[in-house]
Amino acid sequence: MAKMPIETAVRRSDAIAKASGTQKYLSDMTFEGMLYSRMVRSSIPRGIIKNIEVPSLPEGYYFISHKDIPPEGKNELWMIAKDWKCFAENEVRYVGETIGLLVGPDRNVLANLLDDLIITYEEHEPAISIEEGLACKGGAFVNDTNIFCELEIKTGDEMDEVFNRADRVFEETYRTGFQEHVHLETNSVACVQEDDAFVIYASAQCPFYIRKSIAGLLNIPYDKIIVRQTTTGGAFGGKEHFPDVLAGPLLVAVNTIGKPIQMVFDRSEDMEFSVKRHPSRTIIKTALDDKGAILGMDIDVVYNVGGYLSCSFVVLQRGVFHATGCYGIPSTRIHGRGVATNTFPSDAFRGFGAPQTLFAIERHMDHLANFLGRDPLELRNEYLLKKGSLTNTNGHVYEEVKLPEMIKQITDASDYWRKAKEYGRGTGKGIGIALYNHGGAFTGNGEQMIIKGHARLHKHSDGTVDILVGSTEMGQGFQTALRKIAAQVLDLDLHMINYDNPDTSKVPDSGPTAASRSTMIVGKLVERAALLMKKRYDSEEDFHVEVEYEHPEGFPWDQNTFQGDAYLGYGWGAAVVEVEVDALTSEVETKGIWVSHDVGHPIDELLIRGQVNGGVIQSLGYASMEKMENKKGYFKQNSMSDYIIPTSMDFPKMESFLVDNPYEFGPFGAKGMGELVFNGADAAFCEAVSRAIDRRICEIPIPPETIVELEIHGN
Ligand code: MTE
Ligand code: MOS
Repeated sequence: MAKMPIETAVRRSDAIAKASGTQKYLSDMTFEGMLYSRMVRSSIPRGIIKNIEVPSLPEGYYFISHKDIPPEGKNELWMIAKDWKCFAENEVRYVGETIGLLVGPDRNVLANLLDDLIITYEEHEPAISIEEGLACKGGAFVNDTNIFCELEIKTGDEMDEVFNRADRVFEETYRTGFQEHVHLETNSVACVQEDDAFVIYASAQCPFYIRKSIAGLLNIPYDKIIVRQTTTGGAFGGKEHFPDVLAGPLLVAVNTIGKPIQMVFDRSEDMEFSVKRHPSRTIIKTALDDKGAILGMDIDVVYNVGGYLSCSFVVLQRGVFHATGCYGIPSTRIHGRGVATNTFPSDAFRGFGAPQTLFAIERHMDHLANFLGRDPLELRNEYLLKKGSLTNTNGHVYEEVKLPEMIKQITDASDYWRKAKEYGRGTGKGIGIALYNHGGAFTGNGEQMIIKGHARLHKHSDGTVDILVGSTEMGQGFQTALRKIAAQVLDLDLHMINYDNPDTSKVPDSGPTAASRSTMIVGKLVERAALLMKKRYDSEEDFHVEVEYEHPEGFPWDQNTFQGDAYLGYGWGAAVVEVEVDALTSEVETKGIWVSHDVGHPIDELLIRGQVNGGVIQSLGYASMEKMENKKGYFKQNSMSDYIIPTSMDFPKMESFLVDNPYEFGPFGAKGMGELVFNGADAAFCEAVSRAIDRRICEIPIPPETIVELEIHGN
């Protein structure tokens, strides 16, 4: 049988079980003698715990707190930074901070006990917004300044000199809000003792992260904690570090009680008491010469980190590195800060810091064009990055940038130029465009210095091959992609390749399932391992091969100064959105969505389409209806009826293009793309609405009530 090209779609490994409802998730699992648990959480955003009054507990019920951490252990979770405690001891910094666990056999009894447990606090004045955090409202609680983390990068001439030369200056401030992940499966973890080890079952992206994060609580070696990923019903970054916040207390509780314990959040808990996308404020100041050419950009980025730093410095770095978008700007200075506030710690969310600054630069390009009396796409075209261009970290773009071809695809398909001219401003009709990119995998030399991913393949005597990696399926289709890569190289039928949810005691660490790195980096490891296996496949029965990540030569990066090649390669995207705004109700109807992406060479056209559809719609939800407000430290939206996410009724079918641009270091030329597809439709939507109502839009989300306000008050 002739081999099919790799991009030809196959049926997903997980399609039948998930679509038919037979797939088992963590909440379907029980263990002998299993107990349930409820988190005892801070009910105030900031203060000191004065007293915890635990009601008298029936036989078989327990209250677990930091006091149950053994003397040799440390009360900390290791999520890049180690500042987020497993259990609050004295100070609480956000509503929902874990103080203890109630554990027992009956969930109703646990709920009653939770109601009867009384905590008294000395309350302090909280800082909630970015501005309040920066102003140290209520007094600083981190570093005397509330600045958790900070970086600055520069290219070209000194900014003062650039602005002295400027003929005109254009400056604006852009803001983005919280976003909730709304993975269909809520956060779920269980902990069980098995022989002399603790087994964590978790709906999670990164089994090896959990192990590392919680081992210190009991001060035990990593291999005394085994993490088994359970089939994960969506994650979107929300299960990258956050499962540690469930797994840590459970580990301490199981160590104390000696019985299996499960914790499954209900939907309102999952929305009120879990991590969110970082809200942001980005100020872009552009220096222009007398002909309107851009001399330089001075960019100030602030992300709302919440109560603990955890992984936010890395998120901020990615935000800063994406702050000039797809453009080569002669001189730049980008300053980024992560500010402490008394909100739930912000965390990874599809795009990992890039969507916020990309939104800002795309709105800036639109408004700058308006300021100069130019067409926004023409202005963009003039500054597009090309192969060989310098990046804002003084690195280079190594690949061919196919944006011109992609722009042509979507402007032709949408009839952009005619509509842009015909729909006058304020006519109720509008069309907008945005360009975006996403740096693949970990920043700089992180893959080589921090992760050092491994992948193993095992051939059994019946000819079947197991893929052994720590990377996870969370809906993005990775399981299918990886099996395809191995099958294609080994020239085997797909059903000969097995890939199970990882178990840290059985698979090597291939790094986290994050940064869109799995197909591109782990897929490449599997491709290399399969090539090694192929040589021995016919002659040997039962054997395995293992490979380690090798960093290509010639991509300098200094993680102390943030100089050099932040990424080896990028995924690229372009989106056009067309809208009509109802003159009476201000409701927006999206009339069309056209997108084009460069994902290298596609591993599976249907999987790519799934990621494109999901990512683009998630981005449109972020821009339009997904409003998560925090009032005085409390999230106001806690159900799917008040936090509205898009359904298939809200947006029309999109027209989606791909350009083929094989990536030298990816398997079969594939690049990372799971986050790229989130990074730009939001800005295109805003530009379309902005033109339709003739108002400037510098902040998302813009639900209808915000559009009414804009129309009344103007901007
Ligand atoms: N797609 C689905 N269906 N579910 C998810 O949880 N997560 C996104 C993206 N697409 C996600 C998804 C995020 S945050 C990342 S980092 C990438 O998938 C990770 O997948 P990859 O490493 O396989 O590209
Ligand atoms: Mo994705 S935000 O890197 O898990």
